[in-house]
Amino acid sequence: METTQLKSIETYAKEQSTKLGLHSWPHVKRVLRLCKQISKLEKDHVNSDVLETAALLHDVAKHLEKENALDHGNIGADMAENFLNSIRFPKENTKSVCHAIRVHTHGEEPHSTEAKILHDADFLDKMGAVGIATVFIKACLANTTIEEIVRLWKEKPEKSFVGRHILWLKKPHFYTGSAKSLAKKRNKIAAAFFEQLEKEIKLKDF
Ligand SMILES: [Fe+2]
Ligand SMILES: [Fe+2]
Repeated sequence: METTQLKSIETYAKEQSTKLGLHSWPHVKRVLRLCKQISKLEKDHVNSDVLETAALLHDVAKHLEKENALDHGNIGADMAENFLNSIRFPKENTKSVCHAIRVHTHGEEPHSTEAKILHDADFLDKMGAVGIATVFIKACLANTTIEEIVRLWKEKPEKSFVGRHILWLKKPHFYTGSAKSLAKKRNKIAAAFFEQLEKEIKLKDF
């Protein structure tokens, strides 16, 4: 990919994702790094221009979802298509980028290796210590207490802003073997962490 195109994509992605809050752009960069790492470990051929562009643009519409309760995968794919056309990104790659963005929100099944890797990288960033930290960022944004988080962890979490993330921690879903094995390692911490949190709140650790 041309360096100027990559720079424009990064600038646009950062501009859009920052509208959601300071935590959003670092998430996009972690997802990009995870995508690169997974693609090294998977045996299938990966178009790195498609994968890296999809990773950078995958959450461009997330700030709109928060405001209007819309699916950010679908809107994000449309926004990415318009943007990529405006910088003359190769048409055949744009189509693949948009598919990966459209399906990363768990609505449709991914058909390409790049879409599967993006889905898994995004999901991996919801797991482990980063996942727990994100639960608390979301709790802050939704005015939710630590006690409520413990309740959501123990009971079947409802589909609230915070509850949905706890559901992901409890029921991870991956397509690639390398993401599955990394998630297994990362997610060991979650159960132990929430157990300890409950103990401390209820003074059961005396
Ligand atoms: Fe997303
Ligand atoms: Fe994401």
